[in-house]
Amino acid sequence: NKLAVFASGTGSNFEAIEKAIREGQVNAEIALVVSDKPEAKVIDKAKSAGIPTFVFDPKGYSSKQVFEQEIVEALHKEKVDWIILAGYMRLVGDTLLTPYEGRIINIHPSLLPAFKGLDAVGQAFDAGVKVTGVTIHFVDKGMDTGRIIAQEAVYVKDGMSKPDLEYEIQKVEHLLYPNTIQQLINRGNQA
Ligand code: GRF
Repeated sequence: NKLAVFASGTGSNFEAIEKAIREGQVNAEIALVVSDKPEAKVIDKAKSAGIPTFVFDPKGYSSKQVFEQEIVEALHKEKVDWIILAGYMRLVGDTLLTPYEGRIINIHPSLLPAFKGLDAVGQAFDAGVKVTGVTIHFVDKGMDTGRIIAQEAVYVKDGMSKPDLEYEIQKVEHLLYPNTIQQLINRGNQA
């Protein structure tokens, strides 16, 4: 059960998954952290955890196909089974999707299909909804459109600020993502 975690940001979900593995709650190994942002905090976190990284700058490539081909080679070299997107702020193309279809999942901070795309927590907050949450789904060509695997609600209580809501959403993410990964591993197939 080898995972590759893809992240462009702080990597708090990476940390939660790494900790769940270390504590024996998830029966897997993070074989590689992939990041498209050479300055992302997640890279230092991966290095401190002793996990290999594949860091690239998309600007240095002529197309998505070219950098995704390099990623696929790195994934094959590490014999990666599952791709875990955790704040990877980029649509996945065919080059990466085709060999990993059904084995690539994403976490999104809303109850999809509501509030797709960027700043989903802000979108929900501005819309004034009383319930939002977290979705884990299979990745397809679209933005936040693949088949839903798990969801958990987060209630927007009176007087909550946007940072309060972000904090509550992240708390749920950090439990739901490791649990869902373990469930997928238990099922042992493409579900
Ligand atoms: C998470 O909120 C996730 O839902 C979204 O990007 C954020 C990543 O946060 N896709 P972090 O880098 O794991 O802290």
